[in-house]
Amino acid sequence: MCWARGNLPARAHSNSPFGQGMLVVVCALLLVSSPAMGSLQLAEGLLCVTPSTSCGMMAPSDAMLQWPTRRLLLTLLPSHPLHGLTKTRFGADVTLYRWTRDQVTGSSLTHNVCHTCFKRQEKLHRCGQCKFAHYCDRTCQKDAWLNHKNECSAVKKLGKAPNENIRLAARIMWRIERESSGLAEGCLVSIDDLQNHIDNFQDEEKNGLMDDVQNFLDYWLSQGQQFGMNYISHIFGVISCNGFTLSDQRGLQAVGVGIFPNLCLVNHDCWPNCTVIFNNGKIELRSLGKINKGDELSVSYIDFLNLTEDRQQQLKRQYYFDCTCEQCTKKTTDALLLAVKEGDPKPADSVVKEVTQFSMDTMEKIDKARSEGLYHEVVKYCRDCLKRQEPVLADTNIHKLRILSISSEVLSYLQMFEEAAENAKKMVDGYLKIYHPHNAQLGMAVMRAGVTHWHAGIIEVGHGMICKAFAILLITHGPSHPIAKDLEAMRAQTEMELRMFQQNEFVYYKMREAALSNRPIQVMQEPKNEAQGMIFHKKS
Ligand SMILES: *[C@@H]1O[C@H](CO)[C@@H](O)[C@H](O)[C@H]1NC(C)=O
Ligand SMILES: *[C@@H]1O[C@H](CO)[C@@H](O)[C@H](O)[C@H]1NC(C)=O
Ligand SMILES: [Zn+2]
Ligand SMILES: [Zn+2]
Ligand SMILES: [Zn+2]
Repeated sequence: MCWARGNLPARAHSNSPFGQGMLVVVCALLLVSSPAMGSLQLAEGLLCVTPSTSCGMMAPSDAMLQWPTRRLLLTLLPSHPLHGLTKTRFGADVTLYRWTRDQVTGSSLTHNVCHTCFKRQEKLHRCGQCKFAHYCDRTCQKDAWLNHKNECSAVKKLGKAPNENIRLAARIMWRIERESSGLAEGCLVSIDDLQNHIDNFQDEEKNGLMDDVQNFLDYWLSQGQQFGMNYISHIFGVISCNGFTLSDQRGLQAVGVGIFPNLCLVNHDCWPNCTVIFNNGKIELRSLGKINKGDELSVSYIDFLNLTEDRQQQLKRQYYFDCTCEQCTKKTTDALLLAVKEGDPKPADSVVKEVTQFSMDTMEKIDKARSEGLYHEVVKYCRDCLKRQEPVLADTNIHKLRILSISSEVLSYLQMFEEAAENAKKMVDGYLKIYHPHNAQLGMAVMRAGVTHWHAGIIEVGHGMICKAFAILLITHGPSHPIAKDLEAMRAQTEMELRMFQQNEFVYYKMREAALSNRPIQVMQEPKNEAQGMIFHKKS
């Protein structure tokens, strides 16, 4: 399981400066209303699944889906309101589809996250029966009851809650019992038809699966229907390779896992035309640009920022298929990611090789230091490495971008905002040349860089970046997403500060100083491992 994403340090780290405050009211500003943007009405059932003629696959009921290898095309029906959408109407809410299905919270977070909407909160109400489920309020509790009822009895009987895979499998099977056979409304594919890839599992994964099945049997309370061992294993296999990682309302932490069969129909493309986002307890499939009639919808299962070979390797290892998308075939971005500093003379190949190796070695040391919370060490490694890279690697070089990203996060965390801002700016300039202009990871990176500039008092650049991030996140996350709302508030605040700055710099700095000394409010997120952006939760 991959809840504690990589090297995420414990939140209450003893030397942690987290919480010791930094300027400017961000949180208090969340009152600003959402943008005046038209929202296209969603209608159920507007997606259609068609067998892909190019690879001759059959309809889902006829064949086990070769997920996630290419097999079916998910397209919009011509009646979908987004057909024929012009470029200029973009920026409106471009949600294609919204799904809720079987979803559970991660085991380490069951007391901190609402089991219905997955908001991370301090104060939650506990289910009086099982004392396991937690909710924001009565509404969330009521909404959960249908799915929680059996779980509640099972947890009570067992005396504790099993891990999330087991809880999810049980929810899926209780649903199957409730809804009996046939496809539920709005469901384009049955869980029976999803691939489980158990044959591809390594020994260790197989053992994990067997343990889960055993523990499941102790937990499961049947409502009548009997499921065979093969079927139970199938469900666990499906969860393992099709489980969708749910993140909290700020997109900062993985808080749960869900199975959304419809989502599994969307194929991977490294340069996709849709994105998936978890918003208020629901999965949204959002369009990133104009969708043409009959076009296949695609999403990216992984972060784009990697060399073609590495992306392909990651997809093969985690999702068992060979990516043959256009980006992978043409290796479009590799030149930028491997670029060497222009100049006369160009750095020698041997030097480039040496610096690249040095960067990779440093990266390992950084990961280790970061996992131990030794952030000052991390800063030292980053500074050394950037100095070595500077005369040799171009600004879009992946090894440079990785160091810039870590160093800006860690420096922000240590409240060394000016140096953090300088590195964040270089990183964003590189990202803008590499990522699709509507990419969620890009939007989040620009947002963090904007906040860093703001905190460093570089208000013009900071405001510009916050506006840019807002524009990206309106498309990738939508105006109703809590992060987009935060950004909108920050945009208003930085705009006000920028105006103040332009009218009278002296007054601006005076006020800033005052704010800095009095207001322990906005804090930086603890630096975390960047290796997110993977939509399905199968671990590597
Ligand atoms: C959407 O993505 C699919 C598959 O990646 C591709 O075939 C199609 O041309 C894309 N459409 C647009 C408008 O980008
Ligand atoms: C890049 O690819 C490698 C090899 O597949 C993988 O281990 C790594 O996690 C990827 N990095 C990111 C940031 O996705
Ligand atoms: Zn809730
Ligand atoms: Zn309960
Ligand atoms: Zn690809």
